[in-house]
Amino acid sequence: MASISIRNLVKRYGNFTVIPDLNLEIADHEFVVFVGPSGCGKSTLLRIIAGLEPISSGDLYIGDKRVNGVQAAQRDIAMVFQDYALYPHMKVYDNMSFALELRGVPKAEIDARVKRAAALLHIESYLDRKPKELSGGQRQRVAMGRAIVRNPKAFLFDEPLSNLDAKLRGQVRAEIKALSQQLKTTMVFVTHDQIEAMTMADRIVVLQSGTIQQYDTPETVYERPANQFVAGFIGSPAMNFFQVEWHGDRSILPQGGTVVPLDSETAGRLRQVGNAVLGIRPEHFAVAADAVDGIAINVRLVEPLGSDTLIHFDLADASAIARVDPALRPKVGDRLSLRPQPGKMHLFDASNGQVLR
Ligand SMILES: Nc1ncnc2c1ncn2[C@@H]1O[C@H](COP(=O)(O)OP(=O)(O)OP(=O)(O)O)[C@@H](O)[C@H]1O
Ligand SMILES: [Mg+2]
Repeated sequence: MASISIRNLVKRYGNFTVIPDLNLEIADHEFVVFVGPSGCGKSTLLRIIAGLEPISSGDLYIGDKRVNGVQAAQRDIAMVFQDYALYPHMKVYDNMSFALELRGVPKAEIDARVKRAAALLHIESYLDRKPKELSGGQRQRVAMGRAIVRNPKAFLFDEPLSNLDAKLRGQVRAEIKALSQQLKTTMVFVTHDQIEAMTMADRIVVLQSGTIQQYDTPETVYERPANQFVAGFIGSPAMNFFQVEWHGDRSILPQGGTVVPLDSETAGRLRQVGNAVLGIRPEHFAVAADAVDGIAINVRLVEPLGSDTLIHFDLADASAIARVDPALRPKVGDRLSLRPQPGKMHLFDASNGQVLR
């Protein structure tokens, strides 16, 4: 059990800088998820924490110990990879016990730890099987079991669920979360799936080009995104963005001059800056009762999801999505009036994307 502290971390491969300057504090027992687009440096950062990748400059602490020069095997951290990397010729039991045997842990102790981990992960009945005789989800649990038996100070997961089908993904996601609550061990989990990030994390690190864009609870990252990148990355379907201008006494879309009804706070902010990018999540449109104070749109595409229905529409030069009640039964070509919900509007600086508050 340990905190992880990263200070002024720089990582270069040759003259390519992956991480320019990163500071991050992960508390003991915390479940932190790294999320970001492909190539942003998630795996690199995880491998640095594990000790599988050297640091170019800066410091890494596990607990209060500086571990810059400490080898992976001495860090007491367990890493679970996307491809599980189980030994194919060994039974599940031996896959789980192997590392402990190498370390000379007494047989009875090994047996107790393997049985306890197997019970925790519901794989007791597979201990005599080889990996090829297991499903993807079962293999994934064996890989976790192999990490758990080591009683590490922290677990690092690199996209462990990406090989699983959607249903199993949801199931294992919930299992990992429950496990973290039982084990009370620091966990760092890498994914580019923002639903995994939202559902599992105590705190989310949103990364872009090796730089932290926001580090906060899932609720805050969703409700109060720090910039347009985070706003567009977290949430599905993604937040809609529109260029808006303050004109006379109201806010309009500069192309076509459509009036956008804003709440008084957002309107006040837009009045100060003159123009900005307005962000509205698909779930934060109300279908207005009368067309007078809403935005008139034409439904271009309808996607029924069962629980909700997504309607696609074009507004000025942007294409946008609204999530509406399926009972509306919208059809392509319908003319609807949408109104952004008060208190759910985000305004971003048009030049640098920072949120305007
Ligand atoms: N050994 C290496 N040598 C040179 N460049 C590398 C090396 N490993 C990774 N990179 C580069 O560093 C950047 C970050 O890679 P990393 O694997 O950390 O991304 P990631 O966020 O995990 O992406 P993904 O979601 O695709 O797994 C990428 O641009 C990658 O090409
Ligand atoms: Mg990766």
